[in-house]
Amino acid sequence: MELREIEIFAPATIANISCGFDVLGCCLDSIGDTMILRKTSETGVRIGKIIGEELPMDPKKNVASVAVMAMLKALKVEPNYGFEIEIHKNIKPGSGVGSSAASGAGAVFAANELMGKPFSKHELIPFAAEGERAACGAPIADNVAPALLGGFTLVKETDPIKVLELPSINGLYATIIHPQIEIKTSISRDILPQTVNINDAVKQWANVGALIHALHMNDHALFADSLKDYIVEPHRSKLIPKFEQVIKSAINAGALGGGISGSGPSIFTFSKNLETAENVSLTIKDIYKNTNIPYHVYVSKINDQGVKILKQS
Ligand code: HSE
Repeated sequence: MELREIEIFAPATIANISCGFDVLGCCLDSIGDTMILRKTSETGVRIGKIIGEELPMDPKKNVASVAVMAMLKALKVEPNYGFEIEIHKNIKPGSGVGSSAASGAGAVFAANELMGKPFSKHELIPFAAEGERAACGAPIADNVAPALLGGFTLVKETDPIKVLELPSINGLYATIIHPQIEIKTSISRDILPQTVNINDAVKQWANVGALIHALHMNDHALFADSLKDYIVEPHRSKLIPKFEQVIKSAINAGALGGGISGSGPSIFTFSKNLETAENVSLTIKDIYKNTNIPYHVYVSKINDQGVKILKQS
């Protein structure tokens, strides 16, 4: 039977994971958008409906349609039908948990399924990254890769993009606080220095290596000890109220560690089980209750599947 319509779950993601600026990422399970793609008799890509957020309806400006158009361009023969995209946006844009990446990754995954899977999930990553280019000016893959592949990923090469799938630590949960302040990815990138201190660089790449080793060894203590960022976080954390306090209190409540999620303002922490992640969420809420900043706290296990099909017909 020929597929006409597909509904998918496009997950939120945590990019950087402290030490891996622009290269490490992981996929979340209980935070994400729903998207519906349907074939249309007219060729091309159009945005049918966006619910939940104000985002561009112009297909040349919307991340989801830009990503699908990049994919269609790469086909030897374009299909004789088009696509209509409906987005039910639950991930707030500018929150730091891969809102645009979910749109790009979800759209290319769904369109690929409707076309009978001409591309593998790995081959879809550069198309979804074109959506990121539309969103923040650069085709960064550290959110789109885990959104498509699930689990933990490492962007090994950027041109052309090559991504490695990493193992996850058993039972890992994330607790994330999203303070509702806007920090645009472009601004949080602009404030970063263009050169790094060699001593900081040495500490940083040691931690990236150690974190990946910890994932392979299922070593909670080493994982916790590697969640440090000497290069980016010192500059960005100044933009996030109560950042240090959130991390310290989360660790006191049993978290393994944490950092800035993507380019912020969300702060992530990891815990070795759900109970600890829930305790961490209470502690973090207590800190933000004493500010006048609205916030949301999420607890999610690591999603090892990535974007997934909810319905198809
Ligand atoms: N890694 C990016 C940054 C955000 O920290 O600016 C997500 O792509």
